[in-house]
Order: sequence, then structure tokens, then C-alpha cells
Amino acid sequence: MIAKNNRGNFGSKLGVILASAGSAVGLGNIWRFPYEAGDHGGAAFILIYIGCVLFFGIPIMVAEFSIGRHSRTNTARAYQILAPGTQWKWVGRMGVLAGFLILGYYSVVAGWTLDYIVQAATNGFAGQSADGFIGAFNGFVEHPWRPAFWMLVFMLMTHFIVVRGVEKGIERSAKIMMPMLFIILLVLAGCAISLPGAGNGLHFLLRPDFSKLNADALLSAMGQTFFSLSVGMGCLCTYASYFRKDVNLPKTALNVGLIDTSVAVLSGLIIFPAAFAVGIQPDAGPSLLFITLPNVFQQAFGGLPWLAVILSVMFYVLLALAALTSTISLHEVVTAYLHEEFNMTRRKAAILVTVGCSILGVLSSLSLGIGKELTVFGMTLFDFFDYLTAKIMLPLGGFFIAIFTGWYMDKRIVWKEVSNNGMLKMWIYRSWLFLLKFVAPIGIAFIFINELGLLK
Ligand code: PHE
Repeated sequence: MIAKNNRGNFGSKLGVILASAGSAVGLGNIWRFPYEAGDHGGAAFILIYIGCVLFFGIPIMVAEFSIGRHSRTNTARAYQILAPGTQWKWVGRMGVLAGFLILGYYSVVAGWTLDYIVQAATNGFAGQSADGFIGAFNGFVEHPWRPAFWMLVFMLMTHFIVVRGVEKGIERSAKIMMPMLFIILLVLAGCAISLPGAGNGLHFLLRPDFSKLNADALLSAMGQTFFSLSVGMGCLCTYASYFRKDVNLPKTALNVGLIDTSVAVLSGLIIFPAAFAVGIQPDAGPSLLFITLPNVFQQAFGGLPWLAVILSVMFYVLLALAALTSTISLHEVVTAYLHEEFNMTRRKAAILVTVGCSILGVLSSLSLGIGKELTVFGMTLFDFFDYLTAKIMLPLGGFFIAIFTGWYMDKRIVWKEVSNNGMLKMWIYRSWLFLLKFVAPIGIAFIFINELGLLK
């Protein structure tokens, strides 16, 4: 049964953009993007990434918006409404599962940011050596309960916002947190670029090294696109089910894509110049933000301890804010699904999600410490969830969403959603359909097949 009548709605167009951008902008931009770019050749990776955003990400986002707003229900049910009696519902269900799995490891990193806020605020980074930071980080993530504790705190913060509902919880929190995030980001980028020696970082970020672009880099850039834009798992489809009829879907998608990409590039502009300024290599992997950055703050501003404290607190608050608006959207996908499909109250649905994801979170957290030996396909549980969702489930979901909207869905409905019932002039409509029908599915399939090595 669908609780159709008392569904929430976003109150304003600004709220729609801030909430959707809040979902998109997250640890994906500030934590994941820099280390993926650092690992795969910097500017060359970024160029491929931007190509994926334009040709796959934004077009598929518009498709998700159309599916969600038309069906006005959770992402699994949406396919049942648009394609009754078919197997398309599995695309929606896979999305809900992906959301659940992502929240299960994402919340672990989100929890780290809280611990690092406390460390930064209590001047815990002062006087440490470069090796000290590495030891401190490894000691922290391997600790049996400290990271798990912060993960739980983060999960509870998410829970209480989601329980408050769409307008009072999700929209209002985005309206407060997103402007704060932008201000902090600009201040930090200004500081990083003005560091002596920062030029090498800019160089790295802006001068492409195409020799590193192999099949793996392509898959990483594509995975990063879907992950960073929150596309391919019905997250923005769920949000769109709360959009009003006058929201311009293509324009909203374009804005979200633009904001998300700018934040990723700006984060690169903070992290690489800062890392190079103190002589740290950019390919440190997932620990880049938690080892490199404290070190940078110490080395660059150690002479002005109060400034080092303020900037490092700002940085980890930025991360926590970005993460929170994203965990909210992940949580909402699963909560809306349970709430509407199993006819339970929102509160009960949210509690189930929080408990389930917390269990997953504890397991992923432990998989970096005492559970290190327990691997899946040679990866820790944490890395496995990241690989499975970002590099497989989301691009696969995106592939099917493109085909569903491009080939299967009734074009009268598609046109109605994209043009707001003929009210908007949509000169890009045909090109957009072409991207969905051909470019995105063929491109995604090519990258998958290339990665499997079948093209050699
Ligand atoms: N886009 C978010 C980020 O970049 C992560 C996310 C993925 C959120 C999928 C929702 C859905 O951090």
C-alpha cells in the first residue's frame, strides 16, 4: 500500500536544489575524489570525470528526476507504477540495497570526521611529526570501539533529521548546512592556494598525465561520477518524488551537476596545493585527508597555533556537514521504501534503517582493524562495499535507468515531466534522449567490458 496522501514535499525551489546538491556534495567530493584523482594521473582523470558527468551523470539524473516525480513514490515502487508486471522493479530494489550498503561504510568515514573535529579543536595535532600522523590515524581506525562509536553518533544525527520529515528535516537542514559548507570551502581554498609551494599542486591538478589512463582509471572515473552525483541508485529519484510540479527538472540537474563538480575541483584545489606545499605525495589513498591534512595544518601554520586550530576545525566541520546532507539522502531512500512498501510508520522504518546500517557500519569499521584478515575477494569489508557500490551497482543502475527512460518509458510521460507539461521550451529534449538511448548505455558497457579485459 502506498501512503499517497500524506507524503511530504519540498517547500521551495531553493530547497529542492540545496537538498539535491546536499545529497550529491559529500565525502565523495572531498574525501574520495582527491584520492582517486591523485591515484589516476590528476588532470587526466578529471577530464574523463567531467566527460562522464556530462554524458552519463547529468542526463541520467534528469531521467531519475522524471521517474521519481511522475510516480510520487519510493524508487522500488516507481518502476512498478511505470512498468507494471515487469522485472524493472529490480532496478529500484537494487538501488535501495545500494543505498543501504553505501550508508553502511560511508557512515564510518563520516564518523572519523567527528573524531577529527574533536582532535583538531583540542589542539591534538600540535607538535606531531609526519610519521606521528600516520601512526595516529592507523591507531584510530584500528581501534576496537572509537571509530565505531563515532559512526553511531553520526548515524543517530542522520536518523533524527530523517525522522523529522522531508520539509522540516531534510529541507531545513540543507538550507542551513549547505551555505555554511560553501563559505568554509572558499575560505580554505583561498588559504591553500596562497601557501608557498602550492604551485606544484596546481600544476598536478591542471596538467594532464595521460599515461596513467588505463581501463582501471576509466572505471574509477565512471564510478566516481555516479557516486559523487548520487546517481544510479534512486536517491535523486526518491527526492524528486517530493518535488512540486513546477520544478524545472533539467535545470535542477544541471545546477546540481555544476555545484557538485565545482566542489570536487575546489576540494582538489585545497588538498593538492596543500599537500605539495609540505612535500607530501597526492596518492596516499583513502587516508589522504586524515593524514596529509593535519600534517599540512601543522607544518604550514604551526607558527600560528591558533590559526592551525581554527583552520583544521573548519576543515573537519566542512567534511562532517558535507557527509551529513549525503547520509540523510541515503537513509531517506531506504526509509521511504520500508515506510511505503511495508506499510509501517516513517519512524519505525527509520529505526530499522538506522539499526541495520549501524550493524553494517560496525562491521565495516572493524574490518579495518581486528577484522582485517577477513577479506572478500581480497578486500576488507569496507573496501568491498565501496568497490561493489561505486564501481558496479551504481553504474549498472545508471545503465538500466538510461535504457528504461530512453527506450521503455512512455514518451508522453517523459516529455510531460521534462517540459513541465509543455510549459518549458526544451530544445535539448531530443539530444538528451539520444544520450540516454545510445551514448550512456554504450559508454557504460564499454567501460565495464574494457575493465574485464575483453577488449585486448
Ligand atoms: N554523492 C555522495 C557523495 O559524493 C554520496 C552518495 C552516493 C549519496 C549515492 C547518495 C547516494 O558523497
